[in-house]
Amino acid sequence: MSAPCLEVYPGAVHLPGFLSLDEQRVLVEHCQDIGNGPTGWYVPTVRGGGKMRVRMLCLGRHWNARTYRYEASRRDHDGRPAPPLPPQFSAVAVRMAEAAGMRLTPDVCIVNYYDAAGKMGLHQDKDERPDTLALGVPIVSVSLGDTAKFIIGGLTRKDAKAMVPLASGDGFVFGGLSRLRYHGVAGLLPRTAPRELHLDGRLNLTFRQGAA
Ligand code: SIN
Ligand code: MN
Repeated sequence: MSAPCLEVYPGAVHLPGFLSLDEQRVLVEHCQDIGNGPTGWYVPTVRGGGKMRVRMLCLGRHWNARTYRYEASRRDHDGRPAPPLPPQFSAVAVRMAEAAGMRLTPDVCIVNYYDAAGKMGLHQDKDERPDTLALGVPIVSVSLGDTAKFIIGGLTRKDAKAMVPLASGDGFVFGGLSRLRYHGVAGLLPRTAPRELHLDGRLNLTFRQGAA
């Protein structure tokens, strides 16, 4: 039996329970290994000078939080080259996109770590190449650890919004007409992570095409 596939809006698809616990564990361990390595976690400072409420790791390409552009190395942090995007990570994103009836060839994965106070304000993902945005090539999001209160709205900031709880192992794919919907994370539901992951908080991986 295939995993459920819930269409929240046309082109915005929730895939609850997509990943097995073993697959989740492999991803968590791999993210932690990279994050604890020499080109590891950092807290981005955005254009206005404020700190984001997550720790970040960009794989494949680096997203510069000051310029909102992708580049080869972490020029807004320590100048180190972005670690490569592991092919096993990309394979998960391709499978999720397919399950949602979409396709992407990711060139970047942004890993965000949320602690108990982590959140992310409402925003659009629009820093990828204009041709991929116009084609509606999806963003694929993978959630691991504590459940997040994921908020997704319309194409303007004030449109009505839906709250989708994203639990460990869930996928969320938004492309096509939903590619530029505003979205964010209102907070976590503490201590909801599967114990077997030994993860305090939440990891979210977003895969994108058009960063290169
Ligand atoms: C993001 O929009 O970049 C992250 C979304 C999430 O953490 O679920
Ligand atoms: Mn986003």
